[in-house]
Amino acid sequence: MIKHYLQFSDLDASEYAYLFERAALIKRRFKAYEKHQTLSDRTLALIFEKASTRTRVSFEAGMYQMGGSVVHLTTGDSQLGRAEPIEDSAKVISRMVDLVMIRTFEQTKIEAFAQHSRVPVINGLTNEFHPCQILADIFTYIEHRGSIAGKTVAWVGDGNNMANTWLQAAEILGFKVHVSTPRGYEIDQSVAGIRSGASYQVFKDPKQACAGADLVTTDVWTSMGFEAENEERRKAFANWRVDAGMMAAADPQALFMHCLPAHRGEEVDADVIDGPQSVVWDEAENRMHAQKALMEYLLLGRQD
Ligand code: CP
Ligand code: NVA
Repeated sequence: MIKHYLQFSDLDASEYAYLFERAALIKRRFKAYEKHQTLSDRTLALIFEKASTRTRVSFEAGMYQMGGSVVHLTTGDSQLGRAEPIEDSAKVISRMVDLVMIRTFEQTKIEAFAQHSRVPVINGLTNEFHPCQILADIFTYIEHRGSIAGKTVAWVGDGNNMANTWLQAAEILGFKVHVSTPRGYEIDQSVAGIRSGASYQVFKDPKQACAGADLVTTDVWTSMGFEAENEERRKAFANWRVDAGMMAAADPQALFMHCLPAHRGEEVDADVIDGPQSVVWDEAENRMHAQKALMEYLLLGRQD
């Protein structure tokens, strides 16, 4: 059976426990300039239908460090942008590479690709989910504060792909999410793909959502693909800017996270993202270490 990583719920708690330990080991080796080339001769295809900095660099550098190589495709420079059926693309690409990462629009597109792929497919962001980011974020939380089980994460902002993925993670790893979104941008439980509402609570006031939280996190007001709504969103989200007051309402030990790219003065104030509670650079770096563990796991299973 091929193991895909299309959403956070594709792996269970014990698999995550393994991945977080493995990522820590892989990171230690990287920092010590020790080789960790468990994927030599393997090839990863990276397919981007949306822009990226972190996702591309982390997967590409990570694969080379593991002894493998990458092929980079975008909509503009491949037949993907000229209406070749996704199923045909999946059949062809997956005969030539060992692993595929896709960043695209609808989740149904990546699911269709995976259904016709001979090799594991990884979600590098869709409109609905961003599992690799939350994998790295939780790894980062554990590095700084230990287990996330029983903790509270405050989500301030759009009920988007990041929010949905946090909700899935909360169900699997046993923590709570306090969600505050402007009206019209709420979480849709059926899109988030969660079993119940037990692991999250909705707050009208973003500061209340932050009260006592162990981690405060947010994201851009306008995600990729929603640019036409930019002006409307700027008005609706004006009060959903993480500021010093919200951080002061959180637990004194609270961390601040943002998947990046960030817009200072919109969803977060500069003194928060550039302040002492922010771990955004660790989060970004940890994309690479966590995804190296993920790629190895999907291709080789658990390693001793
Ligand atoms: N956080 C994240 O996925 O960044 P990129 O869009 O730069 O890949
Ligand atoms: N929610 C953002 C995340 C970017 C990494 C987007 O989808 O554009």
